Amino acid sequence: MASLDSVLACLDLNLDRSVERLKDLLRIPSISTDPAYAADCRRAAEWLAGDLSAIGFEAAVRDTTGHPVVVAHRDGPAGAPHVLFYGHYDVQPVDPLELWDSEPFDPQVVTQPDGSRRITGRGSADDKGQLMTFIEACRAYIAETGGLPCRVTIFLEGEEESGSPSLLPFLDEFKQELSADVALICDTNMWDKQTPAISTGLRGLVGEEITIKAASRDLHSGYYGGAAANPIRILSKILADLHDADGRVTLPGFYDGVPELPEDIRKVWDGLDFDPSEFLGEVGLSVPAGETGRSVLEQTWSRPTAEINGITGGYTGEGFKTVIAAEAHAKVSFRLVFDQDPDKIRAAFRAFVEARLPADCRVEFHPHGGSPAIQLPFDSPILERARQALSDEWPKPAVMISMGGSIPVVGEFKRRLGMESLLIGFGLGDDRIHSPNEKYEMSSFHQGQRSWARVLAALGTDAG
Ligand code: BES
Ligand code: MN
Repeated sequence: MASLDSVLACLDLNLDRSVERLKDLLRIPSISTDPAYAADCRRAAEWLAGDLSAIGFEAAVRDTTGHPVVVAHRDGPAGAPHVLFYGHYDVQPVDPLELWDSEPFDPQVVTQPDGSRRITGRGSADDKGQLMTFIEACRAYIAETGGLPCRVTIFLEGEEESGSPSLLPFLDEFKQELSADVALICDTNMWDKQTPAISTGLRGLVGEEITIKAASRDLHSGYYGGAAANPIRILSKILADLHDADGRVTLPGFYDGVPELPEDIRKVWDGLDFDPSEFLGEVGLSVPAGETGRSVLEQTWSRPTAEINGITGGYTGEGFKTVIAAEAHAKVSFRLVFDQDPDKIRAAFRAFVEARLPADCRVEFHPHGGSPAIQLPFDSPILERARQALSDEWPKPAVMISMGGSIPVVGEFKRRLGMESLLIGFGLGDDRIHSPNEKYEMSSFHQGQRSWARVLAALGTDAG
């Protein structure tokens, strides 16, 4: 215990320095989905490998078929468990840029009217700030005690935000090297600012890009209008057909593998103090818009969805142009729960579109990742230790929650490496991840570091 106390004190003492390191990482625009930032993605990987080497990990940037990953190892005491920490250094695009109060890649520490501080910038919460909480905990542990209480492998990915397309071949090739007793992941939220959380469920995701083409060129909408097929109209109709009047998704077979919420999970969720009007009110909404008859927690945690994430076509510039476009595009995603099969959902969507395609139209599909939902055990000894460690750090005891978002690797860790994951994150609902003005609370960053020190101690030999 004495060593844990000194690690915690070391984290307190070095908070300002850890913030400077995070700001350095946040200045690198590692947007994985846009090829224009490929060199920046590599720069972020190199920055991380350099930092991990500096604190005594054997660390390297490793190539994949896409953006590189970082793999780092450091031994622990004999007999101690082996943990794999996973995080992602890539970030989401920053558009619309004009809505940011400060530059997305020029991070700032801002003091709020209530005296709390936050770190701004793209990736501050998702996931650079979060992954650095773990690295800072390791840094302090090594500095104070000369080592770590567990054997630790750190695995940092650069394509999570674009569906992890290169991950599977890498996992398969380095299965041996990446297999550990448990994966630790810091990419989820707390319940609220006082209450830490372990996430035991995540939704899966299927991403599809669709293009509908008709005439061989853009047409005058008066000269041809009435006779020519309009791909934007056709696409809109197909997309509108994806939901029925009750908000249910109409793809045949979509709800295969979707059970009613199991009683044990419902009980845990009922114990959470969740206010749907606050959840929606915070973003300017008031009426749940999903499946009728489902609570907001069900709608976001245990029910599948179909969403249109982007739609373009025709003339969208200043002024007006009377045109029938030759093509129309949309980006569509499905959030999956329980046993829904990503491949089947993708195939069902493609068949649904093809069946609705009128004469003279063609469709092209482009896949953007597919991952199943995950449901982790509620009752493992590791989870109990982690829950206790978190409860020791924060004002309120840790709770078990689910998250509506997706982290594709988690299912693959289980399926390919036989490894369970422990999802502990310090994000907050108002961090604006994927939106303008993303931020990470200083309390998340600081107490997140302290939490990982406690979790490592609890999992390692210091536990007794
Ligand atoms: N960190 C998020 C997942 C998340 C979202 C956790 C909300 C907690 C609350 C993750 O980085 C993410 O956004 N993933 C993408 C994955 C997709 C592009 C394959 C997602 O969920 O959209
Ligand atoms: Mn993330």
